[in-house]
Amino acid sequence: MSRQPLRLGMVGGGEGAFIGAIHRMAAALDGDWRLVAGAFSTDTGRNERTGAQLALDPARVYPTIDAMLAGEQALPADERIDAVAIVTPNHLHAPMAIAALDAGFHVFCEKPMAMNVAEAEAIARSASASGRHFGLAFTYSGYPLVEEARARIARGDLGDIRLVQVEYLQGWLSQPIDNDGNKQAEWRTDPARAGLGGCLGDIGTHAFHLAEHVSGLRVASVSADLSIHVPGRRLDDDVNALLRFDGEARGTLKASQVAAGEENGLKLRIYGSLGGLEWAQMEPNTLTLRWLDRPAEVVRAGGPGLQDGTTRLLRTPSGHPEGYVEAFGNLYRAFAAAIRGEDGRRFPGVDDGLRTMRFVESVVANAASDQKWTPINRG
Ligand SMILES: NC(=O)c1ccc[n+]([C@@H]2O[C@H](COP(=O)([O-])OP(=O)(O)OC[C@H]3O[C@@H](n4cnc5c(N)ncnc54)[C@H](O)[C@@H]3O)[C@@H](O)[C@H]2O)c1
Repeated sequence: MSRQPLRLGMVGGGEGAFIGAIHRMAAALDGDWRLVAGAFSTDTGRNERTGAQLALDPARVYPTIDAMLAGEQALPADERIDAVAIVTPNHLHAPMAIAALDAGFHVFCEKPMAMNVAEAEAIARSASASGRHFGLAFTYSGYPLVEEARARIARGDLGDIRLVQVEYLQGWLSQPIDNDGNKQAEWRTDPARAGLGGCLGDIGTHAFHLAEHVSGLRVASVSADLSIHVPGRRLDDDVNALLRFDGEARGTLKASQVAAGEENGLKLRIYGSLGGLEWAQMEPNTLTLRWLDRPAEVVRAGGPGLQDGTTRLLRTPSGHPEGYVEAFGNLYRAFAAAIRGEDGRRFPGVDDGLRTMRFVESVVANAASDQKWTPINRG
């Protein structure tokens, strides 16, 4: 029998939303997934129009996630959804993920995992009790050259890692657009819907995850400053943190949404005793390596010298750029492989989510105190 796609239901991602459409493209990229159901918006018209645009069976366009879970559970096993993609604002991640896991579905959830550590731990308990897979959209770990960087560091190419510098600069919140009807800005600057951190939770978590994922090191403690540059804003729009890793490595994390004019400037630099590397999200198909004893190297997606694990994440020959959607697609592919019990690549999940939420809590606590260093709880 030919292999059938897994069936996906989506919560959020209605007309006018940002990330839901990216998830739909990414999930469809390799034929691993087919979107068959959704509760895309609390606005009935938007919800129904989204379902119609996506050519879904109207009976499977549900008014709420609860209706979707109940409706799908009532279908025969070979028709009902296998997994739920959660692409709503942050305050809904935990209740929705827990409901979906408890109802027996796998969950692929947007970051940050939850509003705080307690919620993230509740998701972890549900994932463990249900035996279902929980994937988290730390997109940047899906880029082929991020995998190349991770693998080269893991095999010791750079020697002992000493310095980790990560920065994520955006400029789109430089003005008070949160009060001007910008849907994405509006909930991201509201503590009741965004969580403990503003810029910290939104993109600081990506930066932190990338730094730990690629270096293979764990941050032991942080010393941080959070600031609000736009008057009246209730959550940080700028983050500066010093990082002490286990062992000797030291690092810095800079995240900002008021770096006026910046687009999506995520950049990682890591230096060891023998050399360093640099990767930047806006030039994702290039990895630069620098050496003490020889000229710098430029490694290119699809070019010579890549590890097998990197090549498996590429879909086109060199010079045909792959990007954000494909990186997301790599996470969906690994998530599908895990559900099918195949030997897939690792994808971010519960442990990554808990680490990042503990980082957020430590930064917030440190920035609010006179303490110089705050440890990150190991759980
Ligand atoms: N991984 C990434 O790179 C990345 C990028 C952007 C956003 N995100 C994350 O994705 C999530 C959504 O962000 P966004 O920018 O797409 O937000 P958005 O405001 O553009 O979209 C949110 C969607 O959720 C829907 N929604 C809200 N409440 C709902 C409910 N109760 N039931 C069903 N639908 C509901 C809204 O109608 C809207 O369609 C956030 O958690 C954000 O942090 C991740």
